Amino acid sequence: MVKEKVNAKIAKANGKVSKKSSVKSNLKSNEKVIVTAALPYANGSIHIGHLLEYVQADVYTRFLKSIGKDALFVCASDMHGTPIEMNAKKAGIDPKKFAAKFMKEHQEDFASYLIEFDNYYHTDSKENKELVEYFYSELKKKDLIYTKKMNVIFCKSCKRSLPDRFVKGICPHCTTADQYGDICESCGITLKGTDLVNPKCSLCGESPTQKESEHYFFKLKSFSKSLEKWFNTKESLVQPEMKNWLNNWIKKGLDDWCISRDEPYYGFEIPDSVKETGEKKYFYVWLDAPIGYISSTKNLVKGKWKDYWYKGHIQHFIGKDIAYFHLLFWPAILMAVDIPLPKLTVHGWVTVNGKKMSKSRGTFFTAKDFLQDYSAESLRFYYMHGLDKKIVDLDLNLDDFKAVTNNVLMGNLGNFCYRTLIFAEKNYGKIDGVADGKDEKVFVKKIEKLFFDIEKYYLKQDFKAVIKNILIISDLGNAYFQKSEVWKDKDSVESKKKVGFCVNLARNLSILIAPVLPEFSEKVWKSLGLKKLLWGDLGFDWKGKLKKVEKLVEKIEVVDKTEEKFPLQMVVGEIKEVENHPNADSLYLMKVDFGKKIGSRQVVAGLKKWFNITELISKKAVFCVNMKPAKLRGELSEGMIFAADDHENVSILHAKKTKVGAVVNFSGLENSEKEVTFDDFLKIKMLVKNDNIYFGDKKLSSKVEDIVVTGVKEGSRVH
Ligand code: 2FM
Ligand code: ZN
Repeated sequence: MVKEKVNAKIAKANGKVSKKSSVKSNLKSNEKVIVTAALPYANGSIHIGHLLEYVQADVYTRFLKSIGKDALFVCASDMHGTPIEMNAKKAGIDPKKFAAKFMKEHQEDFASYLIEFDNYYHTDSKENKELVEYFYSELKKKDLIYTKKMNVIFCKSCKRSLPDRFVKGICPHCTTADQYGDICESCGITLKGTDLVNPKCSLCGESPTQKESEHYFFKLKSFSKSLEKWFNTKESLVQPEMKNWLNNWIKKGLDDWCISRDEPYYGFEIPDSVKETGEKKYFYVWLDAPIGYISSTKNLVKGKWKDYWYKGHIQHFIGKDIAYFHLLFWPAILMAVDIPLPKLTVHGWVTVNGKKMSKSRGTFFTAKDFLQDYSAESLRFYYMHGLDKKIVDLDLNLDDFKAVTNNVLMGNLGNFCYRTLIFAEKNYGKIDGVADGKDEKVFVKKIEKLFFDIEKYYLKQDFKAVIKNILIISDLGNAYFQKSEVWKDKDSVESKKKVGFCVNLARNLSILIAPVLPEFSEKVWKSLGLKKLLWGDLGFDWKGKLKKVEKLVEKIEVVDKTEEKFPLQMVVGEIKEVENHPNADSLYLMKVDFGKKIGSRQVVAGLKKWFNITELISKKAVFCVNMKPAKLRGELSEGMIFAADDHENVSILHAKKTKVGAVVNFSGLENSEKEVTFDDFLKIKMLVKNDNIYFGDKKLSSKVEDIVVTGVKEGSRVH
């Protein structure tokens, strides 16, 4: 009865096409929908910060499918760009293979969090190449591309031009040393690599030169008006924050966009670039990445991709860090090729315990790490429990996470469904009647209203409100079960029917929560002998046999992962031999003795400019010995020598009195022996104060002496 009523209402609200959806939305009833999440770089592991967006997009798509939309969730790994090319080179692997390894890892991680893509592809695909070339030819045809000579930074020793991020130097604005060429972390100003004072190649430490290079530009500026018009229409951008950003960007004035990069680069070669500029040029990764959304669709549905992209509805989920690309470049490109513009939903960062994730605080979790202690569904639930459409950071407070999992997910929703299904199976084995007295009728009315609200919130992507309202239902269910006291009079027909009512309620809850907790719901369905239920199956007339339900939620304990350790393993070594690096003018090869435990190792060091060989031989100094071994210009380096540097003077960290192989540390802070990467290393700030070396307020020493440097300025950094 009730189910028919619900369905009738649904059908009425929807016209004839879909019998499933009941709430008016900006989606036409049978419209095709493409949902995307940002394409992760195939250059590192997925961490729990990334997962927020994939869960958000997954929940939304699963919901659309449940209400009967033709929705596809497409994604891909973003395979191109300088960091991937460089890291592949460092690892001595072909970039395609290097990226493919991460792509595989990404897919496994996403699957383990129940993120169900309709297609997960890669941007170095033939479909993407074809589409990028098609886009480019359209832009050219419309006279939206031109070339211009510009100065790029070139490292002669590395024989390559350097992206801004790979040059370091003094900020011209605030004079802070050691800043990246794209942004000064001290004063926040955005820079170009050529702005830096005393720039250094971050790969080899040499001073780079400038080189003229001809590049391709897209006439972004000419889209200022149309972009402004687009995002100021009522429909286009529903998050007000975005409109503000955009209006400000436009007010400041847009620059045309450089879409090419020099060799070496892992990307698609620009057709005719050699003819036009005299050199091979590649499309900048940010041109081909978003086109990857389309090529992933095309790979899935082949020729039908146009039905989605030209006639359907596109929904991108992105983080605020890539808003500029998705709100300016991408729509302008789409306009240029006459593809309708997407809808965008932007989210903020994930913080853990109120702060940026950090390894030493024990709050940096890769997707894999996290699953060692917690479950995928507990994270999905927690994220959706806190996520609405405001662009604010979402804090994963681990104590709160425990409370939400144990008291809310388990204590409220899980408890109601589990106790109901267990009770019914154990005592009756099947349901053959559902209570529909006065109480139940009132109850059903209330709940039907909540079904509609929940559907509306899902459509609005206000997942926080979705969860809140689902919990109201399970709360009411718990109260009903409690009040009915069926255990006192188990065998009466009345009790049995009341339990039947609760079983139906649990069945409905499983449908409502399925987009967020697909496994939880599947377990409920399995106990009812059912496969998959959709939104249109909501109702109160289910009867049938029951199987014993599996445990729905696992209780969690917060595991303390705080690492009270310094990430670098610092040991004294004696320099036994020094020779010139065969392939790099600025580097030495050193044989260093680290005593019995570690033995002798080869270390490559960029000290040639500062010291001659005799100044180094037989010296004892502090080394880092837990760096990931890396080939530097073809020579293996199994450690790093520390040196303090003020750009004019350099001092290595002498350890005259300390024994070879002895540990050096910061005021008793234990050294970690876990392997670190060069990037991890760069993040650690050690400074010279009074000729001593400090990490925060902790001083560097061995058991027998403080480590001191000479001749460098106060405040110099140690590298
Ligand atoms: O920021 C990133 O991780 C990019 N790889 C996102 C690309 S999204 C899209 F445009 F392809
Ligand atoms: Zn270099």
